[in-house]
Amino acid sequence: MESQLVLGIETSCDETAAAVVESGRTIRANVIASQIDLHQRFGGVVPEIASRRHVELILPVVDRALQEAGASLDDLFGIAVTQGPGLVGSLLVGISAAKALAFARGLPLVGVNHLEGHICANFLAHPDLDTPLVCLTVSGGHTALVYVPRPGEYEVMGTTRDDAAGEAFDKIARVLGLGYPGGAAIDRLARGRDPGAIPLPRAMAGEGYEFSFSGLKTAALQFLERARREGRKVDIGEFAAAFQEAIVDVLVEKALRAAREKRVSRLVLSGGVAANSRLRERLARQGAALGLDVRWPPLELCTDNGAMIAAAGYFRLKAGERAPLSLNAEPALRL
Ligand code: KG4
Ligand code: ZN
Repeated sequence: MESQLVLGIETSCDETAAAVVESGRTIRANVIASQIDLHQRFGGVVPEIASRRHVELILPVVDRALQEAGASLDDLFGIAVTQGPGLVGSLLVGISAAKALAFARGLPLVGVNHLEGHICANFLAHPDLDTPLVCLTVSGGHTALVYVPRPGEYEVMGTTRDDAAGEAFDKIARVLGLGYPGGAAIDRLARGRDPGAIPLPRAMAGEGYEFSFSGLKTAALQFLERARREGRKVDIGEFAAAFQEAIVDVLVEKALRAAREKRVSRLVLSGGVAANSRLRERLARQGAALGLDVRWPPLELCTDNGAMIAAAGYFRLKAGERAPLSLNAEPALRL
């Protein structure tokens, strides 16, 4: 029987990842080498450092994925690689490796949109998941509401005009001295605290499907600065809860309204911020009240990984799609 194994390669940001997925549904190996330790002291991803580290890691990571899957390159049906969006220098490392391997072994190659990968993580995690659905992708690099009428078809309803949701969490966490990335730390500090004690803005709530988080970030920074000037001590837990709630309020309101407008009964989450406990709790509760089936992937499939790229690529390869060896990185690739 023809092989159904696809090697997926993902290097769009600071994760060097490779995975082997069977028939677009079964993960045989999912190897992720995080570079977070390298970037931590800079408080964010340094593109030059990220690309150099990807160069060092990409072949060992691919080798390990094949080894864990008990497969060799010759067992593959094809190779899928993230083409964009992302950091150009980082994307190029994965693309060059994928092209070299595909050319050397005469394997079909396909480029995958990183956001399509995030959405497909849900099909990987939930084999019974059906379309139509609405997906809210929220990570350090992206905030997007996407309508998926059927597999492989996407209508972007809205993205962020400025900061991504995760980026907003990270920037405030940094100011609070919580380290990078700080979304999970804010989530932890906010647990059980009153989210309504500090008033913060909800930009663009109730209108359209675009997001904007830079105003919230400025308001939060000004609140901290004023307290410092006036010698007032800020309760960090209370502040974290208020800040988190301001982001979650907008995400929940728009996601639920999008699902209603598209008349879908399924809403899925993806991206690193999908790990946020308040976002999950509110979407599950308010979604259930509206009769929505709300789901998200396990954490290792929420954050950047190669399996989601392999899954998305499998269906494209099956449909006969092939990328030429001139395939190039597209840092601003649209869905
Ligand atoms: O998907 P991801 O690994 O990277 C990108 O593709 O950007 O997402 C990382 C982001 C970071 O901004 C991090 O602060 C955020 O996800 N994050 C969280 C939580 N866990 C991770 N944000 C809020 N609450 C969390 N529990
Ligand atoms: Zn991502």
